[in-house]
Amino acid sequence: MIQNILEISYLIASVTFIMGLRMMSNPKSARKGNLVAAAGMAIAIAGTIFLYENGSGYTSREGLKMALIFAAILVGTVIGWMTAKKVQMTKMPELVSMFNGMGGACAALIGLMEFHHNVGNTGPQMAVVLGMIIGSVSFSGSIIAFLKLNGTMNKPVRLPSYNIINTFIMIGVLAYGAYMIFSGTDSSVLLYLLFALALFYGVMFVIPIGGADMPVVISLLNSFTGLAAAFGGFLYDNKVMLTGGILVGSAGTLLTIVMCKAMNRPLSNVIFGAFGASGATAAAGSSVQGSIKDINVNDAAVLMNYSKKVIIVPGYGLAVAQAQHVIHELETLLESRGVEVKYAIHPVAGRMPGHMNVLLAESNVDYGKLVEMEEINPEFATTDVVLVVGANDVVNPAAKNDPSSPIYGMPILDVENAQHILVNKRSMNAGYAGIENELFYNPKTSMVFGDAKDVLTKLVSELKAM
Ligand code: TAP
Repeated sequence: MIQNILEISYLIASVTFIMGLRMMSNPKSARKGNLVAAAGMAIAIAGTIFLYENGSGYTSREGLKMALIFAAILVGTVIGWMTAKKVQMTKMPELVSMFNGMGGACAALIGLMEFHHNVGNTGPQMAVVLGMIIGSVSFSGSIIAFLKLNGTMNKPVRLPSYNIINTFIMIGVLAYGAYMIFSGTDSSVLLYLLFALALFYGVMFVIPIGGADMPVVISLLNSFTGLAAAFGGFLYDNKVMLTGGILVGSAGTLLTIVMCKAMNRPLSNVIFGAFGASGATAAAGSSVQGSIKDINVNDAAVLMNYSKKVIIVPGYGLAVAQAQHVIHELETLLESRGVEVKYAIHPVAGRMPGHMNVLLAESNVDYGKLVEMEEINPEFATTDVVLVVGANDVVNPAAKNDPSSPIYGMPILDVENAQHILVNKRSMNAGYAGIENELFYNPKTSMVFGDAKDVLTKLVSELKAM
């Protein structure tokens, strides 16, 4: 009977995970989706603590175990809650990477604990060893990703032929793991050596990659953690762990593929460490000819006020300036004057998947106004003014015209088809890819220099005065 209740609690949790994930695909329902999935997780945890092994009485040893479990839950909840509460939006990838690392560490610990219980049992031992290896790689890789993102390790470290070295280490770890599974060894020394080697591989895997490329790596590590957790679920015959692991694993894999596609990088390049040079190191020399034209905020306001249709292109700079609220104010003001306003959302604008969607949802921009790249691109030709705010690479025509450019082949927003292009940024500095942008030299383009929040605030007050 108790076992049945436990199974039902796992079933409920599995269903809530799927519902939660579904709800997270839309900013309007995402918060609720998160809560639904978290509630399911709470049910599964409570079920496991109180019902597993049929709630086998309360000896003093059981009492101590319970006290330790609740102390760990309390400490984890307080730290997790406080960190998530105060994190800034631009620091979100760091937080995700840290939390992901913790998931990997849990999977690795399960492997270390369960190894001796499964010696000679090839099937379960496979789940133990693979879970431990993948969890360890995910843990150490995520810690390096965290350190890179928070600026502690801001230079990619590149050993000569690191690709070959990493491939060798990876094959070595897998061969060593196979030995541990099939030889029937019970050696703790060998087990801890394998653990150390897997941690080392995680470090080597992430260390050559440039800081701004981390989101792709994080989502890949995320899928590793999911896979490691799924092995745990298989081992314990625990349905909710299996479902949760598979969902995280497949969501992480899909996200990795979507991001690679949007950045026009094959997945094999990510796995074998052939990318990462794009970030700070790829700065190509200035090859763009021509002059730029800058205009003041008043002229920009006049131009927008007399337009029929305005498309706003938000980018990383909007997030840096935290100008999401004032951009929404600008949009509603223009609409009240009869101007049609839409936002063009590039899939890799900003520094994490869905960055612009999340940012604009914070200021309650109507989700229907956010239009994806493929859908909005044909609309630029019928647009009076495009306002590019803190975006650079996602509107760089070099992606279409210059085969030698590091971003060549990346689909971009075709803003140059609009009648007027207003670009707001602080200087002529490059974006993430470190390259010049010929759009700024286009005769149709006018630069409005300054911090996005300052410029947009002034733009709003100029418009109000008209
Ligand atoms: P970027 O190309 O990085 O350009 C951002 C621009 O914002 C910069 O040129 C900067 O110029 C400007 N800026 C910074 N702070 C500002 C502020 N306070 N006010 C106004 N402007 C400011 O951004 P993007 O166009 O969004 O492209 C994203 C890039 O990141 C792509 O290359 C993409 O591949 C890469 N990336 C994205 C992701 C994901 S998943 N989104 C993950 C990894 C990498 P100034 O310094 O002159 O102001």
